[in-house]
Amino acid sequence: MANALRLGIAGLGTVGASVVNLLAKHGDVMARKAGRAVTISAVCARDPNRDRGIDVSRLSWFTDPVEMAKSDEIDVFVELIGGDNGPAENSVRAALAAGKHVVTANKALLAKHGVELAQIAEASKVSLNYEAAVAGGIPIVKTLRESMSGNDVSRVYGILNGTCNYILTRMEAEGISFEDCLADAQRLGYAEADPTFDIEGNDTAHKLAILTSLAFGTKISADDIYMEGITSITTADIQAADELGYRIKLLGVAQRTDTGIEQRVHPTMVPKSSAIARIDGVLNAVAVDGDFVGEVVLVGPGAGGNATASSVVADIADVARGDQTPVLGMPAADLDDYTRARMRLHEGGYYIRFSVVDRPGAFAEIAKCMADGGISLESIVQRRKAVGSGVPETGAQAEPQPVILITYETTEVAVRQALDAIASKGVVSGAPQMIRIEKLS
Ligand SMILES: NC(=O)c1ccc[n+]([C@@H]2O[C@H](COP(=O)([O-])OP(=O)(O)OC[C@H]3O[C@@H](n4cnc5c(N)ncnc54)[C@H](OP(=O)(O)O)[C@@H]3O)[C@@H](O)[C@H]2O)c1
Repeated sequence: MANALRLGIAGLGTVGASVVNLLAKHGDVMARKAGRAVTISAVCARDPNRDRGIDVSRLSWFTDPVEMAKSDEIDVFVELIGGDNGPAENSVRAALAAGKHVVTANKALLAKHGVELAQIAEASKVSLNYEAAVAGGIPIVKTLRESMSGNDVSRVYGILNGTCNYILTRMEAEGISFEDCLADAQRLGYAEADPTFDIEGNDTAHKLAILTSLAFGTKISADDIYMEGITSITTADIQAADELGYRIKLLGVAQRTDTGIEQRVHPTMVPKSSAIARIDGVLNAVAVDGDFVGEVVLVGPGAGGNATASSVVADIADVARGDQTPVLGMPAADLDDYTRARMRLHEGGYYIRFSVVDRPGAFAEIAKCMADGGISLESIVQRRKAVGSGVPETGAQAEPQPVILITYETTEVAVRQALDAIASKGVVSGAPQMIRIEKLS
């Protein structure tokens, strides 16, 4: 057998400690499969005294990841610190420049600097592997980078954030509000103390940016992602979706169109019959539409120490075997520039919920504005509010009533113009809720 492949693991938190555990448990089997032993030579974290539940006492300890990245003691730098700048960025750059292979779980770093890092890795003739950066334990990077390389991909989409999926699943199952679900998710450790990055869609966007590049052979362009989070979703929307045959999921979608590539992250109505609609709780799922294979759907845990370590160690095994794949599926110089499809040209069906003022002709005004915009309606649901919906006393203003429209396929610009026209007529109260419907088989 060749000399053991020597690892330096930077970051011994949730993922780093699990990688150490996994290698301790399955290192031998992995070595047999890869034809080369793998050993941890050095580790790096900030606090050498913290109890991490792992034994690193016989390993070289670094507090500076850049120093470890350059060390002669290691062949592979495993970056599990996190963040798109500072120690993670500096140490990955240092490792690649020093001719070390890099394995990372860092989506933020890849989304921001992926193309440049790919160029440095190519120049140094080393691997840059990042399976764990997208959907944790699901092997979607390998699927796109290798297994589906014979396909022309038209769309890749998925549930890429377990926190959001957990919240939406519980809101539906138990009829509880977004705020209560979020508080519960935080108590149970499924959501960060500051959940903004998850619930506003940034985390999904980082992963989508990487998927887009792999699926379409374009440069990563994370700043070009249309993004809406889940904070405006109410139990009324979830209940209405249910009655209309849909479920609401936060999806990241990248799709080829006539004018470029759409990259969008937003709450989405998906037909109950679709595979993605059945993904519950903290699970993730990624679907890829390939022209020869059809639709491939991968489901699994998108986070957690052990699931993420599973992907990190698979990347290490590739290095041990000597498998080297272009970082973004093809040489970085061959990646196309990303051309953004304008969101206003997005085509699809829409769910729209209005609070309509209770006066004669209000509904007719809404229907007219939609018709004037060339928008056809598939269904209209008018509800009577249960509470406080009695006959108003003389002179009192009646409560606005919820009205839900489902449109046939139209464009984003047509819907937005119709909503503006409706608002100008004074027939609705407050901002309407608008949720895009994804066409799925
Ligand atoms: N957690 C998941 O489920 C998951 C899933 C997929 C991807 N990821 C990605 O995996 C990476 C690690 O996540 P994590 O959840 O394991 O993070 P974490 O628990 O916060 O651990 C971060 C580790 O980095 C170390 N560190 C931070 N700054 C450092 C510095 N300046 N110098 C040296 N060490 C430093 C910390 O040291 P101390 O321990 O001494 O503070 C800690 O051990 C991130 O990129 C994350 O996005 C995580």
